[in-house]
Parts: sequence; structure tokens; C-alpha cells
Amino acid sequence: MHSQLINLTSDTLTKPTPAMLDAMMTAEVGDDVFGQDPTVNALEKKMADMFGHEAALYCPSGTMTNQIAIKAQTQPLDEIICDELFHIYRYELGGYGFHSGVSMHVTRGNRGIMSPQMVHDAVKPKADWNPNSRMLIIENSINMGGGNYYTIDEVKALVAMARSHNLKTHLDGARLFNVLVETGDTPMEYGKLFDSISICLSKGLGAPVGSVLISDKETISYARRVRKVMGGGMRQSGYLAAACIYALDHHIDRLRDDHRRARACADKLESVSWVSEVFPVSTNILIFKEADHLKVADVVAALKARNIECLAISDRLIRWVFHLDIHDDMVSQILELPDHLV
Ligand SMILES: Cc1ncc(COP(=O)(O)O)c(C=O)c1O
Repeated sequence: MHSQLINLTSDTLTKPTPAMLDAMMTAEVGDDVFGQDPTVNALEKKMADMFGHEAALYCPSGTMTNQIAIKAQTQPLDEIICDELFHIYRYELGGYGFHSGVSMHVTRGNRGIMSPQMVHDAVKPKADWNPNSRMLIIENSINMGGGNYYTIDEVKALVAMARSHNLKTHLDGARLFNVLVETGDTPMEYGKLFDSISICLSKGLGAPVGSVLISDKETISYARRVRKVMGGGMRQSGYLAAACIYALDHHIDRLRDDHRRARACADKLESVSWVSEVFPVSTNILIFKEADHLKVADVVAALKARNIECLAISDRLIRWVFHLDIHDDMVSQILELPDHLV
């Protein structure tokens, strides 16, 4: 009965579908360090056009696109503003200090949602002893918030505040398409608001590798050099870019299925004795707290014994992420979990 492995660890686990593999196998490729890979060039143009920006750069990871965006738009002794839950602050090893020599002001938003006032308060007065407040970063959707998101109006208000302080704006849109399928907003609207945007193709969209940084020509031309010095210049990366193009053409609308499945599982978790709180589900991420009398590790182990793999993201919280390789029959299996698991 529990024969299928259901791996909810992350939406980065997906493997290329046969049709995606086919697109990869038949890709036309060249050496992208020389700018001669037609498929990489096509991906970069497609994404720049989609967001109404001048240029784009295909990179091996979202960490790299985020870090290059910071490097390309700040100077040492600058400061960037982001929320304490954002990936750039938590899980990129302090790369902003390592690569760019900048400091970070972190806000304490509500599950990652910061207010314009918080941004205003974060901006430092000019003084020899203060870093220069230079850039606002917004993550949308918010991974560690539980896949919740800023509405476009909230983003606009934050960006207006940032602009009133002459801050650059960067979007960590690792899962922006999860937001767009829910809200009906367009990439163009987001393109107008941000100086640079990072989009991950290797998360919900299901490509095996890569993220794209989108910005103006000058920023991207410098970003190419930064990518090279970080060792991210790839050669026949068109094989990978072909998967990204396929993902953009075929895997956006289906994100709604992931969201529907996450909601169904959240409803289930509301009713079981081993869960004390379920964060509201907005997209493909479901975070819940185990019951007070239990230990998070025991719940994760009990789920594993039933072939459900997932991650404890703190000593109280467990995260389930829904993706391309989670199907309705697996959801049915989850809906049959017993009321007393541990
Ligand atoms: C919101 C967010 N931004 C950036 C990244 C970094 O992406 P990568 O793992 O490709 O470096 C992640 C990875 O999970 C993420 O969740």
C-alpha cells in the first residue's frame, strides 16, 4: 500500500520528462563562453523579452544569479535590505559579504512579508560610520514563509519606497511563476518594477539545471564577467538551456496542479493529531508544526517509514514541497495517513 516513494523534500528534485529530454537531446549547441550557443542565446532572449528587459544571463544556479545581481549593482561598504527569511540572507553562506563586501539589514516581516515602513526605517542616514543603503531585495514567493507571496500592489508599494530612497531593486523570483499562476499578474509587470530579476528554472518549472538573471544590457554585460570569475562560464550549456525553454513552454500552467495538491494535503493535516498548526497554503509549499508532545525528528522518521520523505526546516517545523513528480495517486496515499502516526 505504501509502495511508492513520495519525495516532498524540495521542488528541485524533479527529473526531466521524456519530452524535455527529447528537447535536450536535439538542441543545437555551441560554446557559450564565446557567446556561440544558439540555444542559450535563445533562452536569454526569451526571458529578457518576457520581462521587458534588455538582456539576460543563464547561470548554473539561483545562488549565482542572486549573488551576481548584488555584485553587479553594489560597491563594497554598501548595504542591502531584505527579510530574515529570504534565501539570500539565510542560505547563500553570507555570499553578499564574501563576493561583494556589502552588509545586510534584515527586516522581521510577517512570514517574510515586509512593509514599506520597514524599508524606510532600514535606510541609514549618510555618515562615515554607516554603510550606504543601496538595494532592496524581495523574494516572491517566499520559500521559508511557506510559499506565501507578496501581491503586486504590495510589491509596488515596496518598490516605490525603495525608489524614493534611490535604492536598486532585485527580485529573487526563484518561484515567481508559482505566484503568477495564482494572481494572473504578468512577467512584464514585474519587469517594470525591478532593476534585476532572478528566475529559477530548476524548481517548480522542472528543468534539471539553471537560473536566469534578467536586467539591462550594461548590468548583464558586467554580470557575464562576474559569472566567469565565479567559474560559472559553461560551454555547450545549450543542452541544459533547451530544458529551460521546454519548461517555460510547457510547465507553467501545470504549477496550479502542485498548488491544488498542496491544499488538499494541508486540509488533511488540519485533521490529524500529530500536527498542531498548518501554515495557510498559497502555492506549492506546505509548512506545518508537529503536535507539542512530539519531536519533529520522530514525525519525519514516521513519515519516512511510510515512504514519505521531507525536511524538518527547524526544531518545530516540517516542509512539504509539491512538484512535477508528485502525482494525484501519491496525494491519495498522503490522504490516507492515520490520525495517530507516532
Ligand atoms: C527562494 C530561493 N532563492 C534562491 C535559491 C537558490 O537556488 P539554487 O539552489 O539554484 O542555488 C533557492 C533554492 O532553493 C530558493 O528557494
